[in-house]
Amino acid sequence: MTKGTFPVERFKSIETPFYYYDVDLLKETLDKIKDQTHKYGYHQHYAVKANANHKILQIIAAAGFGADCVSGNEVKAAISAGFPCSKIVFAGVGKTDKEINLALDYNIFCFNVESLPELEVINELAEKKGKKASVAIRINPNVDAHTHEYITTGLNENKFGFSMSSLDKVFDKIKTFENIELIGIHFHIGSQITEVETFEPLCKRVNELQSQCEAKGIQLKNINVGGGLGIDYDDPNTNPIADFGSYFEVFHKHLELRKGQILHFELGRAVVAQCGSLISRVTYVKEGDSKKFVILDAGMTDLIRPALYQAYHKIENISSDLPIAKYDVVGPICESSDCFVKDYDLNETKRGDFVALRSAGAYGEIMASQYNCREIPKAYLSDKL
Ligand code: LLP
Repeated sequence: MTKGTFPVERFKSIETPFYYYDVDLLKETLDKIKDQTHKYGYHQHYAVKANANHKILQIIAAAGFGADCVSGNEVKAAISAGFPCSKIVFAGVGKTDKEINLALDYNIFCFNVESLPELEVINELAEKKGKKASVAIRINPNVDAHTHEYITTGLNENKFGFSMSSLDKVFDKIKTFENIELIGIHFHIGSQITEVETFEPLCKRVNELQSQCEAKGIQLKNINVGGGLGIDYDDPNTNPIADFGSYFEVFHKHLELRKGQILHFELGRAVVAQCGSLISRVTYVKEGDSKKFVILDAGMTDLIRPALYQAYHKIENISSDLPIAKYDVVGPICESSDCFVKDYDLNETKRGDFVALRSAGAYGEIMASQYNCREIPKAYLSDKL
């Protein structure tokens, strides 16, 4: 498999570790998604949680996407990057009064509501402002996403959304809230889903629910099926795991939209993952009794996915073309879990070499922490380097 192409000469004057984003690839990905969504008339809200870097958000907003936010600060970040309020949806099980008020003040498109107590609070706060809040009910469809347990969200045991069994009651109750307008239903079954067929049972569940709503005289204008499309971490040059065509086709084929209904998506990872790499310098190569360790200046504080989800990120020594050797690639943090990969084939490596941790554009920079008093890594875009 060929290595990625990186401006290694230009990296030499930059302090490591840092995130590096390939803007051409991001724009190409956005175009591919747009081709599909325009074809079917679908709406795309980029999941800001995947990467909230201001410049990345600006590029996605300029491409005409909406934003899926999960906190008041994400709503603010989206607006300051140019996403129109009319294209912002706001999800999350624990929206505070302050966050709800902020979203009401901005007149966002829709609250994706996750519980009855939340509905009551939104109704109350909207009433105080003399407004009517547009909401979609987030439904937990009890569909297995076949992904890592930490990133599966659509099962009964997960904390998200209303259960299927509570819906009758919820739909009755919602009519009594005068400052709430029910404009849709919302789902999200999980993340890093690698087989598009996994979304078929979701489509069937949506169809059943639509019939249930119609039987109650409820017409929904919007159906939001969340995000979740996975990417190929083994091959960062492939984007995404399945082409966007076959992903959107599943919904076109299996989800029965009613006349005038709009289907919404909230892709995050598939939009930004492959355009980002974490660039690090090798601090030391250490010979153990039975192993060789490559010790990077990047650690789990910069990219936590391997430590948190046992996730794999392809690592390339972009300074070396020497023969392959085996290494454990680790970070400098005082935790045994600060290990990116074990027994790994890397071109023979020496102190000072640059290493790229690939497919790190999603849930990378945004999940960085300051543990060990570390600095949050800076980020550079390919067009401004
Ligand atoms: N919509 C909702 C309601 C979500 O909860 C999520 C992700 C998305 C959309 C976007 O999903 P995506 O298209 O990116 O799969 N930190 C984890 C991933 C957590 C995903 C949480 N929810 C990771 O690094 O794998």
